[in-house]
Amino acid sequence: MKLKIHEYQKTYLAMSTTKNLFLLATLMVSCLAFSQHKHHGKSDSTNTANEYMHRSSVDDLIMRFESPERDAYQKPDMVLEYLGELKGKQIMDIGAGSGYFSVKLAEKGAQVIAADVNDEFQGALKMRIDENKLENIELRKIPYDSPNLEDNEVDMVLIVNTYHHIENRSDYFSKVKKGIKPEGELVIIDFFKKEIPVGPPVDHKVSLVTVKKELKEAGYTQLDVNVDLLPYQFIIRAK
Ligand SMILES: C[S@@+](CC[C@H](N)C(=O)[O-])C[C@H]1O[C@@H](n2cnc3c(N)ncnc32)[C@H](O)[C@@H]1O
Repeated sequence: MKLKIHEYQKTYLAMSTTKNLFLLATLMVSCLAFSQHKHHGKSDSTNTANEYMHRSSVDDLIMRFESPERDAYQKPDMVLEYLGELKGKQIMDIGAGSGYFSVKLAEKGAQVIAADVNDEFQGALKMRIDENKLENIELRKIPYDSPNLEDNEVDMVLIVNTYHHIENRSDYFSKVKKGIKPEGELVIIDFFKKEIPVGPPVDHKVSLVTVKKELKEAGYTQLDVNVDLLPYQFIIRAK
């Protein structure tokens, strides 16, 4: 009888040890997955935006970003005119991609920091800079969670079709604010959150109401919102 109880206890112990080991292993795998996720600094929504975009190859994306169809709705000349005098200004273009705006800003005489998280886009833009001997564009590889700006480094930060790719935006854009000189500004251009023929699916876009709320949380007190200049995108100038 004694022996039977002893055996039962051993079996029970073995079973509970196996169960605990299994639970421990599950916990470790979850922690690892979580830490890798945090390491890349991407939330689910941000993953969605970047994963959705990268369903196309970078070569295809560049063709699309630089296409005449994009020019037709992006109206870059009107946008640059709207931004005013750019000559001599220090401007960071966050999520520069193929350099659609970085190159145009540089051609207007700005000193541009073309910032991106992606090596392929940075590589393609480097070739473009070299081929066109553009001396006033600097490339800056940045992490997902920071623009890596020095305090008061730039007069303007421009972010086009990339706001919805950023996670923890209030925190991110308070870092951006520190990098902008006191008289400088943040300019956001992004898609209206509705069905339109261009841009990502509606649920990847961020509504104007949310953008304004997040910018206030980030410390911006003056927001100038333009919804008329472009057919599919709003422009916010924030200080
Ligand atoms: C839709 S593209 C826009 C490119 C460019 N601004 C334009 O208007 O053609 C989005 C860009 O943002 C970059 N990006 C994604 N997440 C980012 C992040 N957290 N910080 C900076 N850039 C990011 C991508 O690598 C990509 O180059």
